[in-house]
Amino acid sequence: MSRCCDQLVHSAALGHCMAGHGNDPQRGLRPSFDEVPCVGDRRYHVEASVNDHGRDVADPVDAAQKEIIVLEEAPVYEVVAFYQGEPFTLKEHMERLVFSASEIDIEIPSADILIKEAKNYLAETNFANNNAKLYVQVSRGVAPRTHAYPDEMEPIIIMQVGPLNPNPEKYFKEGVKIITLPDERWSRCYIKSIALLPNILAKKKAKKAGAYEAVMTRDGFITEGSSSNLFIVEGNTIITPPATNYILNGITRQKVINRLAPELEYDVKEESIPYYTLLNADQVFLTGTTTEIMPVVQINDKVVGNGNVGTETKEIFEAFRELTGFVRGK
Ligand code: PDD
Repeated sequence: MSRCCDQLVHSAALGHCMAGHGNDPQRGLRPSFDEVPCVGDRRYHVEASVNDHGRDVADPVDAAQKEIIVLEEAPVYEVVAFYQGEPFTLKEHMERLVFSASEIDIEIPSADILIKEAKNYLAETNFANNNAKLYVQVSRGVAPRTHAYPDEMEPIIIMQVGPLNPNPEKYFKEGVKIITLPDERWSRCYIKSIALLPNILAKKKAKKAGAYEAVMTRDGFITEGSSSNLFIVEGNTIITPPATNYILNGITRQKVINRLAPELEYDVKEESIPYYTLLNADQVFLTGTTTEIMPVVQINDKVVGNGNVGTETKEIFEAFRELTGFVRGK
């Protein structure tokens, strides 16, 4: 393993890597091994690198005389599905992670190294042969609090695995409801960042309205869902908003465009979808790692098409299931 990887890749329980405590100044911001909860069937020790800023921030008197130390909150992340232990599009996800990190001025190990780390990590958990969801998060590192972060920071990479928790099969068979909301996000949505406040508020509104997802509009055009991309079907053509800076170019979206649509002989158009075009579409579906291919049968109070899942949507869903090797019940 390269020096870079050795130092930068840390598998841990999320949320515990930034806890500062204990009275051993050498430990700096590292939690003790026992305080890291179990992830999968294994505990992971956190090695937050604190360099010469490492100090016991839990000591109030001591800390008052020193600078405030924070884990710089600029994380980017990925969520990857594993089906029966086999990663699905892990390479694409790790490449996007490296890209997202570089877009916010964080240098991390190559996608190849991250792929190896992720596979090794999964293999050591009790998810090794099961359906699982891998979460990978990259943050800038630890430094005295300042907006102009230091040049030499050591990023912290956290990996966490859990059950895939797929959506109920009923949703795929019968379709779901979505609501529409104004897109209140920033203009660099192509970066997969955990700055998700508008997304989570939108999703919560959707849940409160009995809907699966909130789809957002910017200047009268559809952008994407709070955690998914959107497609409409017109005859033999599937249409989705172009991968501009206003959407995340979903890996599932790309699979539909580049693999499933050609295989099923559908035409693809990446073009802006006006709000009213969405409302009048015959078929609508969402895509995403955990969303898979999710048919939409209601938008706000309006029924989509005849209210049933359309033939083309069903075909794409089934082709996707085949591609992922998804098997229920494991
Ligand atoms: N979300 N758009 C947004 C805003 C998303 O957060 C996601 C994924 C997608 C779909 O991307 P992909 O097909 O690569 O999963 C589109 C993940 C799954 C999440 O935050 O849990």
